[in-house]
Amino acid sequence: MKVLVVGAGGREHALAWKIAASPLVEEVLCAPGNAGTSRVGRNVDVSATDLDGLVRLAVEEQVGLVVIGPEDPLCAGLADRLREVDVSVYGPEASGARLEGSKVFTKEFLDRHRIPTGGWRRFDRSGAAKSYLESASTWPLVVKADGLAAGKGVFVCRDAREACAVIDTVMEERSLGEAGGEVLVEEYLVGKELSVHAVTDGRTLLILEPVQDFKQVGEGDTGPNTGGMGIYSPVPFVSQRLMRQIEQRVLIPTLHALQVEGIPYRGTLYAGLMVTEAGPRVLEYNCRFGDPETQAICRRLKSDLVPYLLAAAEGRLADEEPPEWDSRSCVGVVAAAEGYPGPYRKGDVIRGLEEAEEDPDVVVFHAGTRQDQSQVLTNGGRVLCVTALGDEIATAREKAYGGIEKIEWSGKFSRPDIALPRPSDPLHPGDDEEFGIGNELGEEPITLDG
Ligand code: AMP
Ligand code: GLY
Repeated sequence: MKVLVVGAGGREHALAWKIAASPLVEEVLCAPGNAGTSRVGRNVDVSATDLDGLVRLAVEEQVGLVVIGPEDPLCAGLADRLREVDVSVYGPEASGARLEGSKVFTKEFLDRHRIPTGGWRRFDRSGAAKSYLESASTWPLVVKADGLAAGKGVFVCRDAREACAVIDTVMEERSLGEAGGEVLVEEYLVGKELSVHAVTDGRTLLILEPVQDFKQVGEGDTGPNTGGMGIYSPVPFVSQRLMRQIEQRVLIPTLHALQVEGIPYRGTLYAGLMVTEAGPRVLEYNCRFGDPETQAICRRLKSDLVPYLLAAAEGRLADEEPPEWDSRSCVGVVAAAEGYPGPYRKGDVIRGLEEAEEDPDVVVFHAGTRQDQSQVLTNGGRVLCVTALGDEIATAREKAYGGIEKIEWSGKFSRPDIALPRPSDPLHPGDDEEFGIGNELGEEPITLDG
């Protein structure tokens, strides 16, 4: 079978790498891919937002499965288009992708179905937003642009002055374009962040190992938000009890709500959670695999990923066995181009990629890279992610940073504190709970009735 992976980031390199290892797969195509994906598959020069081109490619190449990486083509209806021509596709249709594409839609959906999330208000006029913010008495508050903004539309504001300045930039100056037509003001939630992915066919859920992402650009969670600067998995604070709460209060109710509302959903349901003292709260949903979370998931998943993706695409996930996981820890450190998440330079020569992978526990996933004859050049803000496995988080961390040090280009930077405990994340939890995550056998698929 041929599999087409749509996208060009680190997530797509990790997916292509894992898919290429499947005995079911004879060739992986990546559209458009990057220098990394060209080593495990064949890059085809069709952009991830060229829906006509992608449908044509899938049909002409007779691919057995299309895996859609990024949110933009999902929100634009790529899955709808592919299903119309009977191509098996992993990724929800535009109606399901709204869970990521519109924050207002999602907050209303969460409230309607009593799925736990923080309090919020919406504003489509900057004046009304500012008068609300000027009279607010509890700070911080979070201001969010409604539409897609690649992780850059969220602002944690300490006071009314800061928040009103954000309103001016986002709503008046339209710094994020269309995404700033409407804003949300949200309650600021305190707790530990966690990314939980489930593979689903709309009826059955398969919950994957949780991952923690480091979203802010600077050491100690400072500076603007990015797409994610690093990850680790398993996450020691996640107990079996917390996993059951996430399953029972968030994931199952979400799938049930999608069914009740008649929204089909075949793909990844990714809950971005804040684990508060009162339990898990949904910060956001994503309609696709996380980046860089997927890099850790693909390193730790021992089972073949393809049967799960195919079963979800074809609506028969209930028949699948639980996956096997590597019980070792995975740490992934992103190296970015100077200036990211602001404007950055492209076209710098990257050296040391092979040396970084001399350690058999290290795999480098490319993100913004481009092959130029024998050289690999930077071609994006997040350039690559060095992942490593180790018996302990600390060993995996050491190996990942060892790899990072061997790779060079002008302006390269990483966060130095990926996978170090945050003040809010005790790495040595109390003994009163059973910590089962990290066991080799994963979750059983859960099927909803009706
Ligand atoms: P989002 O894209 O909505 O997930 O927001 C990006 C990041 O901003 C999240 O990963 C959190 O770190 C932070 N964030 C978003 N919403 C809140 C909130 N209500 N309370 C605290 N932090 C938040
Ligand atoms: N790493 C966060 C995301 O993929 O949305």
